[in-house]
Amino acid sequence: MAIFGKKTANDERILPEHIGIIMDGNGRWAKKRMLPRTAGHAAGSENFKTIARHCNKLGIKYLTVYAFSTENWRRPKEEVDAIMDLLRKYLKDSTNFKSENIKLRFIGELDALPEDIKELMKQAEFDSKDATGLVVNMAVNYGGRAEILHAVKEIANEVKNGEKNPEDLTEDDISAKIYTSEQSEPDFIIRPSGEYRLSNFLVWQSAYAEFWYSDVLWPDFSTKDLDKALEDFNKRNRRFGGV
Ligand code: FPP
Repeated sequence: MAIFGKKTANDERILPEHIGIIMDGNGRWAKKRMLPRTAGHAAGSENFKTIARHCNKLGIKYLTVYAFSTENWRRPKEEVDAIMDLLRKYLKDSTNFKSENIKLRFIGELDALPEDIKELMKQAEFDSKDATGLVVNMAVNYGGRAEILHAVKEIANEVKNGEKNPEDLTEDDISAKIYTSEQSEPDFIIRPSGEYRLSNFLVWQSAYAEFWYSDVLWPDFSTKDLDKALEDFNKRNRRFGGV
């Protein structure tokens, strides 16, 4: 059984409650094999399924994956279309999540997505709403700053309507308006592929998250790599600014 959050007297294994993953390196993975970049995304999408299943088995509560950023629209149309098709394929096959007892949620500026994908997302959220296992947040057309801006706009409206007083605002007011407001904040962010940036991922939520980097490209990031990362997380002494 996973022990979340803090060390216990008998020093049992601590697992993160909420893992965030930046699924990076698909393009390089494909290039190394002289394949089109889209093949890298296809392999990355398969690996997402494997890693989600593993997180579920371990008893992790939340997994947030960066599937498509607000900046990714700048990629060639063919590549954007291929990523959207992978999403379609994943969502159309409900065995991907239903038979895994995985609850799916989507975060980001979803309005801008193709209509059929929005419908599939709604359906997948509905179909998986009673699942009791891992909650997967798929970040699609997501940007951390845009998410904060979205929260601030909602609060500004509440102030305008006289529901809130600016002097009384606290960090909790912003936390209550972000996409993952009902969940614990990510305590472990993983970025494979040798990059050391947050890239606008879960900017508000990861204020106290532990980071883990690896040179392995996402399609090659195995359950063993995840176990290694979790072992590392277990060893870290998380003090939240205290001593
Ligand atoms: C970053 O690698 C990855 C992306 C921009 C897309 C990630 C999308 C998927 C893994 C598929 C989504 C679908 C599902 C069902 C989860 P990169 O292309 O920037 O890699 P590079 O840095 O090596 O070029």
